[in-house]
Amino acid sequence: MNEKILVSVAWPYANSPLHLGHLAGAYIPADVFARYNRLCGNDVLMVSGSDTHGTPITVTAEQQGITPQEVVERYHSSFLESFVGLGISFNLFTHTNTANHWAVTTDFFVKLLEKGYVYKETMRALYCPHCERFLADRYVEGTCPFCGYVDARGDQCDVCGKPLDALELINPRCKFSGHTPIVRETEHFFLDLAQFNEPLKEWASSKDYWRPSVRNFTLNLLQEGLRGRAITRDIEWGIPVPVPGYEDKRIYVWFDAVIGYLAASKEWSLVQGDDDAWHAWWDEDQPARSFYFIGKDNIFFHTLIWPAMLLGYGGLMLPYDVPANEYLTLEGRKISSSRNWAVWAPDYLSRYDPDPLRYYLTVHAPETSDSDFSWQEFLDRNNNELVGTWGNLAHRMLSFAYKNFEGQVPTPGDLTAEDQAIIQRMEEAFEPVGELIAGVKLRAALSEVMGLAREANRYLDAAAPWLVLKSDRARSATATYVALRVIDSLKVLFAPFLPFSSQKLHEALGYETDLFGEQEILQLGQDADAHQALTYRQPWEGSVWQPSQLKAGQPIHRPQPLFRKLEPEIVEQELARLG
Ligand code: MF3
Ligand code: ZN
Repeated sequence: MNEKILVSVAWPYANSPLHLGHLAGAYIPADVFARYNRLCGNDVLMVSGSDTHGTPITVTAEQQGITPQEVVERYHSSFLESFVGLGISFNLFTHTNTANHWAVTTDFFVKLLEKGYVYKETMRALYCPHCERFLADRYVEGTCPFCGYVDARGDQCDVCGKPLDALELINPRCKFSGHTPIVRETEHFFLDLAQFNEPLKEWASSKDYWRPSVRNFTLNLLQEGLRGRAITRDIEWGIPVPVPGYEDKRIYVWFDAVIGYLAASKEWSLVQGDDDAWHAWWDEDQPARSFYFIGKDNIFFHTLIWPAMLLGYGGLMLPYDVPANEYLTLEGRKISSSRNWAVWAPDYLSRYDPDPLRYYLTVHAPETSDSDFSWQEFLDRNNNELVGTWGNLAHRMLSFAYKNFEGQVPTPGDLTAEDQAIIQRMEEAFEPVGELIAGVKLRAALSEVMGLAREANRYLDAAAPWLVLKSDRARSATATYVALRVIDSLKVLFAPFLPFSSQKLHEALGYETDLFGEQEILQLGQDADAHQALTYRQPWEGSVWQPSQLKAGQPIHRPQPLFRKLEPEIVEQELARLG
């Protein structure tokens, strides 16, 4: 108990609003996992922030005709709003443009340089004679040498996921002018990954609990052998290289972004007023465990680059698990921001509630293979499962009890075998469902809980307390009590997935505490420097991931429906918004 759990979540590039792919890939699973661990009484530190450097930001700035700083500010505040709206409970969501982040990154760079894990080398790089500049990463596109995808970017192929060196692209072209670049020499710093190949192989081989796709991808690259990777770039936007003579270069965005996990943990400590608090989640001799929630295109950086950097730096804990998700497609096609084939989080939240999306994206999550979001299925699952199975169960029982038992949980008489069986069924579910969540098998966990709600409906249909209300009030009271207790247990089992409706139900059941403890969302800093921290105080000792102990006589409140039925028209309306 009271385990320290670090929940590290991918840092979104601050160059577009969040879309469903981000939410399904990283943010919703991370939040479900974090909330579950908090309910168990574990000390969760969940951090992330806006990724504000590199060519993803400068390319967008050039396309929109604004400065990189303006791009960052626009989307960083959009992220904050989306996370609040969706209940993504970061202990800190910051960004990479803070003095703290720059200092932690600079320290990391200097230390790796001093320890001989970073070396200098003259390399050949692509240069556009028309634009008169080097074409770093996303400034160049071409054909992937590994899988033949024709629109691969200079840093990575979106189709096969392999990290690329822009020079390897076949038929490279400048993203802006379309010209064929020429090769020029330039000097850069490199991370000497070869030195870490063997230690990483040993480390990754021992991770037999990793998702097979993550483990195989990682071991394959180690089998091929890691080569040095440039960690500086010929661009003007980013963290300066802390070595004289490199004033016109910047640290590579990926090098500083992964350091963000550590920097944000340190910043969170400062916010807490305990500068050293982060050590408990990071020192290698601590019993903490870290989980990195990312999409599959980020695996290389989290199972190889970041662990290599941590090994080189020394004293810090390597990732315990990296439960990377596969891709979410949308109505059968790849999500594409530029083609507007996307559902944007702010748009979604302007029309619908957060829990139905959290539900669908979890029960249908791309955990082991790609999965497809379709509005029709979203609607069906909302109407049949959330409204039909779970919402109605809670609503009809609470309304019935409220109306017929003086607004209180009725006092039960002797329990029948069926009464005992359904209560026991709920009690026995906490452990296996908890184990599934702890192992990041969220899809299976949620299906299991919805299955329990179905069983509860069957119990209630048979017990039918409304039929005996007049003839046998005592029996009706007992069945009502049992049903409320079952619902109270389901509320906890659903809570990590459906925090808003579970809290609502918690209040309707007459509890005065906050289901997730006392929470306060703090907006720190101003404007450009705004970031968001959640302070989280658990009023309980130990775990509330426990079956209901509902007391007879507890006053209940007039219930509101937990979920809204969606009209079939929305499917067509939403499809019309795509593309
Ligand atoms: N910004 C990257 C992306 O959107 C993810 C960065 S994750 C971190 O693909 F490791 F850098 F934190
Ligand atoms: Zn490829």
